[in-house]
Amino acid sequence: MHRRARTDARYATGRAWRPACVRTVRERDDSVIRRIGTLRRMDQAALDRRVAVMRAVAERAGRLTLTYFQHPALLVERKADASPVTEADRACETLVRRTLRAEFPQDGLLGEEHGHEPGTSGWDWVIDPIDGTVSFAHGVPLYGVLIGLERIDGDSRRVVAGTCELPAMRERVWAARGRGAWWEREGEPPVPARVSAPRPLAQALVGTTGIEYFRRAGNEPVLDALHARAGRVRGWSDCYALALAATGRCDAVVEPWMNPWDAGPFPVIFEEAGGAFSAWDGTPGIHGRTAVAAHPSLHTELLTMIAEAHRGAGAVS
Ligand code: IPD
Ligand code: CA
Ligand code: CA
Repeated sequence: MHRRARTDARYATGRAWRPACVRTVRERDDSVIRRIGTLRRMDQAALDRRVAVMRAVAERAGRLTLTYFQHPALLVERKADASPVTEADRACETLVRRTLRAEFPQDGLLGEEHGHEPGTSGWDWVIDPIDGTVSFAHGVPLYGVLIGLERIDGDSRRVVAGTCELPAMRERVWAARGRGAWWEREGEPPVPARVSAPRPLAQALVGTTGIEYFRRAGNEPVLDALHARAGRVRGWSDCYALALAATGRCDAVVEPWMNPWDAGPFPVIFEEAGGAFSAWDGTPGIHGRTAVAAHPSLHTELLTMIAEAHRGAGAVS
């Protein structure tokens, strides 16, 4: 009876059942498209859940940094590479890792202070608990908590969500693929983050963290080219410079010395804000060790300038 009712229901839709081998190409295509659609919706739901957790934990981590910020007893140590680290960096990364591990036990974690734990889910988190430790340790508010989320598909990785929390500036910029990029300031409604209008390099305001990083990377020719060609160059540093560019307050950022966690959220933030983010050789993502971020046309002009600077001083003038 039950079986009969099901059969009748099939006929009621006007589509008789036939074995898969006799379905038309069109029917098979439709079924593949439906399955891809379902997978996409599952992926989108999984992404949305991660974005909610990411935003909440970044806010908590930001509040945690404020309990150490400008504290007279803040302990600053030196790491093996002589860069500074504070108790706040470690505590903040511990908070973020614990939360992400509890919520998404199969996801991978890579953090600046506590290393790499591989995952199995195809989602990898990248954490810089305090980006701009030099600023933070000196009581300068231009530091941030960075969290990026990569989706792994075979050999390829793509940043699909990320946030740059600027707790002492009372603002944040975050984005998720297909959900836009957003600039939130305390006491103001969120507004879409947009890179500045296309502008030639000669009129552009370009930020970079510091001369020391160009020297350390042996990239002085690129710094010279930047000074010769850009409208203005300013030393707003670390993630703050990238947040300025992602919200159109400066036109571009050029960084010669980057780790994956320094770049974590920015590829998706720039793409969703109408811009482009890559390494100096054009490699997308966060693993390229250098960074250029700007409106796509200025981004291209900067990549060309960098390539020319590398080829020789003659092309730079
Ligand atoms: C630094 C910043 C800077 C980058 C340096 C990093 P930290 O991060 O992200 O922009 O150029 O390589 O060390 O040490 O302040 O987290
Ligand atoms: Ca950093
Ligand atoms: Ca850091």
